[in-house]
Amino acid sequence: MSMCIFGSLNMDLVIRTLQLPLPGETVQGREFETIPGGKGANQAIAVQRLGHSAHMVGRVGDDPHGQELVAHLAREGVEVSGISASPLIPTGVAMVIVDEASGDNQIVVFAGANSLVGAGDLDQLRTGLAGVDMLLLQMEIPMPAVVAAARLAKEMGVKVILDPAPAPVALPDELYGLVDILTPNQTEASRLAGFNINTPTGAQRAAEKLQRLGAGAVVVTLGEAGACCATGDGVLQIPPFSVLGIDATGAGDAFNAALAVGLAEGNSLYESLIWGSASGALTVTKAGAQNGLPTRGELEEFMSTHVADDTASH
Ligand code: RIB
Repeated sequence: MSMCIFGSLNMDLVIRTLQLPLPGETVQGREFETIPGGKGANQAIAVQRLGHSAHMVGRVGDDPHGQELVAHLAREGVEVSGISASPLIPTGVAMVIVDEASGDNQIVVFAGANSLVGAGDLDQLRTGLAGVDMLLLQMEIPMPAVVAAARLAKEMGVKVILDPAPAPVALPDELYGLVDILTPNQTEASRLAGFNINTPTGAQRAAEKLQRLGAGAVVVTLGEAGACCATGDGVLQIPPFSVLGIDATGAGDAFNAALAVGLAEGNSLYESLIWGSASGALTVTKAGAQNGLPTRGELEEFMSTHVADDTASH
């Protein structure tokens, strides 16, 4: 079974600190690392580690960061023939600041070559979509590219999971109808739904509102509070797994990949969301986005030794 991932590749410049800076404040960092990242590339590696083939389509610059990112994906077994190197613009970078105490982060992304992803990549995407179970999309490439990719997937009968991160103020109306599962986190769902989410009921209202716009299902992930999913037939409550979180970077990518893998293997939506939740939880227990993405063995062991926090309705 295989997945196509159309999206971003970034080099993550990660500083760990005892406190995240407030606007205008300078704080001392304690450790610095350069780690391969980007929501698209993270999802590709997560899929591959869970035992499925991942075909990545995207862009890097023709520079050492780009070469390192592609080589890293290839070492993980990801199909990289759909990644182009653009000569005139550097590879995307993300400044990632991680609060060592809580594992929370702040991320600023410079899109670089990711901003050139578009019509010129659709032939590569068509090749990547041939015979796959699912297309995984995120929002670190231009919106027209995301819409064109979702359209092509629909034409080719491939299911689409879209993580709307980073969230724009609104998604084009057409996109909702092209997406099988939309997976915003709480902040992204607030922005797209147009109201603040402060409670589980608020998250449910947002999921239902966004689902009514045309997506097959909308999952709002809530970190330590689990997730809720509006399907049109009702709402699934997904309990969280309690872990000691040290770095939340990449948890959303792990969630999306495991959800896709669970569905591709014929599990129910609820079961696949539990896989996503467990994979996200495991990822936050390790530092660095791609460092923390679990293998199949790690995920299965975690799920056999941990139960989600409460019995949710499904
Ligand atoms: O989702 C985590 C990712 O977001 C990081 O790897 C960083 O590159 C940003 O894209």
